[in-house]
Amino acid sequence: MSETVHVTMAQTYKVCVETLKSFGFSEEDAKRGAEVLYESDLRGVESHGIARLQFYADFIRSGMINKDAELELVSETRSMAYMNGHDGLGIVQAPRAMDLAIEKARNEGIGLVSVTHAGHFGIAGYYALKAARQDMIGFAIANAVPIVAAYGGKGAVMGNSPFSIAFPKGDDGREPTMIDAACSVVAGGKIEIQIRKGEQLPLGWCVDKDGNDTTDPWSILKDGGALLPFGGIKGYCLNTMFEMLAAVLPGAATGVDVGYPALNQHPHEDIGYFFLAIDPSRLRPLADLKKDIGYFNDKLKSTPPKEGLPEVFLPGEIEFRNVKKIEEKGVDLNINVVKDLLRIGIEYGRLPADATLDDVFK
Ligand SMILES: NC(=O)c1ccc[n+]([C@@H]2O[C@H](COP(=O)([O-])OP(=O)(O)OC[C@H]3O[C@@H](n4cnc5c(N)ncnc54)[C@H](O)[C@@H]3O)[C@@H](O)[C@H]2O)c1
Repeated sequence: MSETVHVTMAQTYKVCVETLKSFGFSEEDAKRGAEVLYESDLRGVESHGIARLQFYADFIRSGMINKDAELELVSETRSMAYMNGHDGLGIVQAPRAMDLAIEKARNEGIGLVSVTHAGHFGIAGYYALKAARQDMIGFAIANAVPIVAAYGGKGAVMGNSPFSIAFPKGDDGREPTMIDAACSVVAGGKIEIQIRKGEQLPLGWCVDKDGNDTTDPWSILKDGGALLPFGGIKGYCLNTMFEMLAAVLPGAATGVDVGYPALNQHPHEDIGYFFLAIDPSRLRPLADLKKDIGYFNDKLKSTPPKEGLPEVFLPGEIEFRNVKKIEEKGVDLNINVVKDLLRIGIEYGRLPADATLDDVFK
């Protein structure tokens, strides 16, 4: 068991804001980006919360992400918009692009925003949930750094297309039903967690450079290995189509052309987003939809669990349970995350040169 440091969520938010400001972002941008990381930790997705600041620092240091970039509205219709991130930081820009999709859906019933030359946006669920919270259906996809093998092929040739679909709450009182996942068996961030803990991978997550199963977490970053798509050939096909929606549609880089500091192969990250918001009340009364959502949720929840399992969960339910727990109790950060925060704290001047681990969350 590796060492951890216990922190409250208020502490993580403060450090996220301060660190993003130390990278050179305005207070407003830093708060917007910090909220994405905060929500991630709150939902128990520790791979994409405060632990990601190190990853963003790598992108900024390498010049692949330009902290001064402005998100540009290139063209729009009443229901669609095409935007250019000019290689800015995803967690700072992407929330604004999703807000525009939601605004268009409010006015026109449907809003689609397609973004090019963008950066890693954190958890896809943050964006789809924004729409669901406003009684809309949200759908968010990004493409990602090349870490996934094509079905039956050798080497990492595509991203893992993180995506989320979220429905509004039903009349059953439960939180929105939603999926928030990547199209690889697990997110790349979960490989990083294993590396931080010094643990091997379970079989079935990754293959080595020859396409054979491996338990070595370093195989992807150093030795030409790859994550596997989930669900065999159908997962591979879905991953491909999502990368087409997110990146081919807006003209962003795809597959091995996406920049990644660990590979140092391109000047920019250059990914794309596909953000869709749908106002279902334009199709039929919202109350009727909410009744049907509640009905379907109830049916799924009343499934008898198989032996050994406590209950059947709805998509998204586990993360919403985490929110209640983590809001109250905080999180245990792996010591290596705190070491990273100390290092970038000193590097970007948030902390004095002689700071220690005890200073990171003061
Ligand atoms: N920005 C990026 O480049 C990037 C890349 C990859 C992943 N991510 C993010 O990382 C996070 C984790 O991705 P992942 O692919 O490892 O996700 P995962 O494999 O942990 O799957 C999560 C999904 O499965 C659902 N789920 C889990 N257990 C369940 C159960 N027992 N019953 C019903 N549903 C259940 C969850 O509610 C959630 O919707 C996501 O938030 C994703 O958006 C981002």
